[in-house]
Amino acid sequence: MSSIADILYVRFQVADLARQQKFLTDFGFAVEVVDGLLLARGTDPNRYVYIAEQGEPRFLGLGFEALSQEDLERIAAMDGVAIEPLCLPGGGLCAQLRDPDGIEIDVVYGIEKPEPLPVPTRQPVNTGDKRPRLGERVVLGSADKIVKRLGHCVLNVTDFRVSEAWYKERFGLLTSDEIYVGTEENTLGAFFRCNRGERYVDHHTLFLVGTGSPDFNHAAFEVADWDSLMLGHDVLHKQGYEHRWGVGKHLLGSQVFDYWKDPEGFTLEHFTDGDLFNASFGSHKAPVEQLLGSHWGPDGAP
Ligand SMILES: [Fe+2]
Repeated sequence: MSSIADILYVRFQVADLARQQKFLTDFGFAVEVVDGLLLARGTDPNRYVYIAEQGEPRFLGLGFEALSQEDLERIAAMDGVAIEPLCLPGGGLCAQLRDPDGIEIDVVYGIEKPEPLPVPTRQPVNTGDKRPRLGERVVLGSADKIVKRLGHCVLNVTDFRVSEAWYKERFGLLTSDEIYVGTEENTLGAFFRCNRGERYVDHHTLFLVGTGSPDFNHAAFEVADWDSLMLGHDVLHKQGYEHRWGVGKHLLGSQVFDYWKDPEGFTLEHFTDGDLFNASFGSHKAPVEQLLGSHWGPDGAP
């Protein structure tokens, strides 16, 4: 079983906090400035899912939420690191690890949960053979605060097998799909999900790509449905932000995806309608063509 409940947040340094605050608001977060930090949350009951501080543009790391304080203590002891109080709204405890590429990996527990924010809703969807919406127009809200939560993060790593072992040992992740190039032995990377036993979780929480040089690839934030995703797309397009890839539907994970570049050069994704699996799904292998292919949507990659 996993020692973590889920991925919780990503952290960055950004050159222009005010510009980034505007982007994050346009992207659909609720953003506050606390002691010079940008803290962005979604509608799910988490105090923050994105953190930015002033500095040269740089990805700093990410946070996982431990399932229990015992899990936090066990993980901290593995690397001999101290457990410190978190000095952010909501408090809580944090053990900060360094992954094999030096990325700061926070393991947190006990952050006070705020009330959820209202989730954009819409009337039922009529399909070809099921028509639950009768005598009613569709009414949609704005693209304001459409982000629900952080779903996954993708990291390029120096040595895939070294990083895979590091994350699996500490967090008990399961491989969902291992990606190969040409032959099955020639592994490029893998999608990992949390092992919560019978409980269904996202197809991937972390994806490590063995590119040979460490880098942030992208972070993906879930929205409620396709209408929310497209409302967000229109806002980002009209504001003139750089579009990276989409709108499309992944083969592996089945998410409807839409990738954007923020003003600092980091790729952030909106997604919805992803696959959910539990431990019984097992582990699979897939060629890189399936990673880059889509059920529908434009060719390319972020
Ligand atoms: Fe993604």
